[in-house]
Amino acid sequence: MSPISTKKHGDVLIVTSNNPPVNALGHAVREGLVKAIEEADADESVKAVVIICQGQTYFAGADITEFGKPMQMPMLPIVVDRIEACTKPVVAAIHGTALGGGLEVALSCHYRVAVPTAKFGVPEVKLGILPGAGGTQRLPRIAGVLKALEMATSGNPIGAKEAAHVGLVDRIIEGDLEPHAVAFAEEVRDIRPLPKTSERDDKVAEARANPAIFDEFRKANAKKFRGFEAPEAVIKAVEASLKPYAEGVLDERRLFMELMTGTQARAQQYFFFAERKAAKVENVPEDTKPRDIRKVGVIGAGTMGGGISMNFLSAGIPVTIVEMEQAALDRGTGVMLKNYEATAAKGRMTAEQVGQAMGLLTPTLKLEDLADCDLIIEAVFENMDVKKDIFTKLDAIAKPGAILASNTSYLSIDDIAAVTSRPQDVVGLHFFSPANVMKLLEVVRGARTAPDVLVTAMQLAKRIKKVAVVAGVCYGFIGNRMLIPRQMQAMQLLLEGATPQQIDKVHVEFGMPMGPFQMSDLAGVDIGWHRDPTRIENIRDALAAEGRWGQKKGAGFYDYDDKRNPSPSPRVAEIIDEFRQKTGTAQREISDQEIVERTLYTMVNEAALILEGGFAQRASDIDVVWVYGYGWPVYRGGPMFWADTEGLSRIVEGIRNQLPRLGKDFKLSELLVSKAEAGEKFTR
Ligand code: CAA
Repeated sequence: MSPISTKKHGDVLIVTSNNPPVNALGHAVREGLVKAIEEADADESVKAVVIICQGQTYFAGADITEFGKPMQMPMLPIVVDRIEACTKPVVAAIHGTALGGGLEVALSCHYRVAVPTAKFGVPEVKLGILPGAGGTQRLPRIAGVLKALEMATSGNPIGAKEAAHVGLVDRIIEGDLEPHAVAFAEEVRDIRPLPKTSERDDKVAEARANPAIFDEFRKANAKKFRGFEAPEAVIKAVEASLKPYAEGVLDERRLFMELMTGTQARAQQYFFFAERKAAKVENVPEDTKPRDIRKVGVIGAGTMGGGISMNFLSAGIPVTIVEMEQAALDRGTGVMLKNYEATAAKGRMTAEQVGQAMGLLTPTLKLEDLADCDLIIEAVFENMDVKKDIFTKLDAIAKPGAILASNTSYLSIDDIAAVTSRPQDVVGLHFFSPANVMKLLEVVRGARTAPDVLVTAMQLAKRIKKVAVVAGVCYGFIGNRMLIPRQMQAMQLLLEGATPQQIDKVHVEFGMPMGPFQMSDLAGVDIGWHRDPTRIENIRDALAAEGRWGQKKGAGFYDYDDKRNPSPSPRVAEIIDEFRQKTGTAQREISDQEIVERTLYTMVNEAALILEGGFAQRASDIDVVWVYGYGWPVYRGGPMFWADTEGLSRIVEGIRNQLPRLGKDFKLSELLVSKAEAGEKFTR
């Protein structure tokens, strides 16, 4: 049965799509839409058409599962042109999200009406492509070039009010959408000529008079677009909208095909599904019901505890935050308020919302005040004895069924759980710093963590707008564990002759937001340091002993000026040289390729060991961790997808070439080798 059905209401033909879950514009929908428009044209009694969707949303775009497969006719560009060519007025009746191809369908309709909660966007850029069904040509004609550039390069949706303001929506409908849309269609049924978006010129004429707008936009966003191919193609396509529609749309098609057949699009589309797969927990009964979380407790009001608390407060969930001393408590809550106020100053929150969020916070010095919390998250100093002590106390205080979580980034959840009488209620919730900003949450599944605790954690993550990935109990879980070989190799490379600048540059050019040493300087060179300035066993110890703790001290692996601009440090070069001599390491020229092999290939190897040990559910989860937790460039899909694109045999060969330098503890993953030998991939 076709997902598209038609029915008449008076002389209006109502075309309804019913293609759950999101009314994606798959083949049957496209075919049905064309048929419905043909029916409208052929039936003399039809005077106007309404296109509406059932379920949670208007068309949320092309069916991404069809990408990479042979496309079946009619393709979307043909469908939208057919809609616009209808001889009767066509009204798009929009609720939910009109995204990508969905918005392009709406733009090809002669009119658009929408409920106040509707959202409009062209997120194709997030999939490494561009709005390729006339979107880059129609959107600027209706909303203006600048708005089209903003929407199509960011992929972020706008709300109904703004959409109405920029001319995308003709009427906002309060109340039942279908009857109001039909009434609207009746109102416009006799207006001729039909308003066709592709024929409009007023808004692009403004840009024609000011063609510098495109280069200004490029310049203003250069940092954001670094490494991505799609945004530049979007700009070129929107630039082509200054030409007549028939010509511009050909440019759009060409640019679309170039992107669609490229690696970045494959990576970003792969990642779309990777992110959604990550939410699925394996080995829990399907009917597992989550526990009810109405109130959260957080222990520790430091940077992590404060950031973690803000996530819940922002989602409207009350938080009780505990510290040991009043001064620390005041400092912590003060920082939270300052962070909220900074968000408000940027216009992303109202003063009222700041007040509401802070109003849900209860600061206290008494652990006992956590007795009524449904979830308690410990976020104190990274020390097993301290954590064990807290969990022993929590076991006595927390109500039955409360979930007890640790924000540890390395330590064993099983060892922590073992001090309680309820290991089934204990789970790791590893937030990334700054916890109120970073999207990633590693949910660490202990040996005895109950299925409903896991399911609750995953569901809660969605509520606080995080992307959660399940990890097993191993040192550093998924993300930090993979940092270890990278960091070790980066340090060793310094001894052998590379500079921090060279290593960082290779990582930045690869697409990472920063290299290993820039990251150390930002996070703090002293993190995890033994704090004994007389014990100097490696370069890091030497830096830490001299107070070169990174950006916060104006010196780390780099020197910093008072605006925190880095420059290469002669002192660091001396320290490296001293260690080179002490360890008898010969200095040699290090190639950028060697840096890739020793830092990135070894990370892939570590990831394979993680998979081998069952500490990640699937390869794509590792990619989600690295993209959301560490800024791995999404256009490379994540470490596992990237390894597949490099070719696993090349990775293994690269590692084997470097084996003599990788240190005695390096272990080559059997899984990686066997996959390489079998010509297999991790992600497809
Ligand atoms: N194609 C195929 N499947 C899709 C899809 C799409 N465009 N959008 C969502 N789905 C699937 C998801 O994979 C998910 O499937 P499972 O339940 O099997 O995991 C299901 O629909 C529900 O999706 P979400 O979990 O994301 O649901 P949500 O309610 O949180 O969000 C949404 C809904 C806002 C529509 C979100 O799914 C979304 O942003 N989708 C992608 C929109 C998009 O990128 N559209 C542009 C497509 S490209 C295009 O349109 C190009 C062109 O025309 C030329």
